[in-house]
Amino acid sequence: MKPTAPDMRVRFAGLELRNPIIAASGTFGYGIEFNEIVALNRIGGFVVKGLSRQPMAGNKSPRLIETAAGMLNAIGLQNIGVQGFIEKKLPELNKIPGCVVIANVFGYAVEDYIAVIAALNDAEGVAAYELNASCPNTSHGGMVFGTDPDLLYDLVRKAKAASQRPLIVKLSPNVTSISLMARAAQDAGADVLSLVNTFLALSIDVETRRPRIANMTGGLSGPAIKPIAVRMVYEASKAVRIPILGMGGVSSAEDAVEFMLAGATAVQVGTANYADPRATENIANGLEKWCSQHNVAKVADLTGAMQI
Ligand SMILES: Cc1cc2nc3c(=O)[nH]c(=O)nc-3n(C[C@H](O)[C@H](O)[C@H](O)COP(=O)(O)O)c2cc1C
Repeated sequence: MKPTAPDMRVRFAGLELRNPIIAASGTFGYGIEFNEIVALNRIGGFVVKGLSRQPMAGNKSPRLIETAAGMLNAIGLQNIGVQGFIEKKLPELNKIPGCVVIANVFGYAVEDYIAVIAALNDAEGVAAYELNASCPNTSHGGMVFGTDPDLLYDLVRKAKAASQRPLIVKLSPNVTSISLMARAAQDAGADVLSLVNTFLALSIDVETRRPRIANMTGGLSGPAIKPIAVRMVYEASKAVRIPILGMGGVSSAEDAVEFMLAGATAVQVGTANYADPRATENIANGLEKWCSQHNVAKVADLTGAMQI
């Protein structure tokens, strides 16, 4: 008799995803660019690159370099603005049945975040919002909110009040206590947390003696950060009751399992999309196979199942 396939569904904040693999913001464009490469309705969902109130040109080049087991970027949140997304990208995405779109929201001030959320509230076809309170690559904003618990609380409380959809709050890893930040976001009304964003980093070309990124500092991502990210997901999951989307260096099914064992309900895949644009779909397929091989009937049972 053929064994029954594992149940790959995961649930958070009233959403049900067909599997726990989600493409991470900033590494999957507006999703639509990947439509020919990845079956967008075979992955759990994807997060659109950060949307701001007005279009943004981003930082000067070079703004992305390879590092040992990772990548350093200072893209500076280049995007077409929330209206551009609603008018040009969302209608295309809405033609793809079963694809789950999460909109990543960014601003320099609380009012900017609220304006983006208000614009998205009127748009059809967005499952949830992910609040980027953690970008290390812009001069004033983003990470400022993500590293001060009082500012984070205020931002999340106002964003939650404005939001007509589930609110995921993306935390910065550039803090001493991730538990403190996780609790501040939960207390302010976050439905879900996602972590981690990139680690603030610097790389210098020893020949020119100049920073290898025009912005000087950038955000480190990829396999190099994975063990730190897994530790932070574990700590955050112990500090809050709300679900967690874990990320940081996931490039295989086993990596996804590791984040789930640490406490993540679902997992995002970022930098791995640069090495292999099909990474999300491959990892989703690999995870199903892994569950079958390990007699895991429900993938959701992996969440928080680390044995101590
Ligand atoms: C090129 C690039 C652009 C990114 N842009 C965003 C963004 O717009 N908003 C955001 O919340 N995170 C952004 N991130 C962070 C990723 O979503 C993710 O949190 C981080 O890279 C860690 O996961 P990874 O190691 O799998 O890449 C970006 C990351 C990279 C590498």
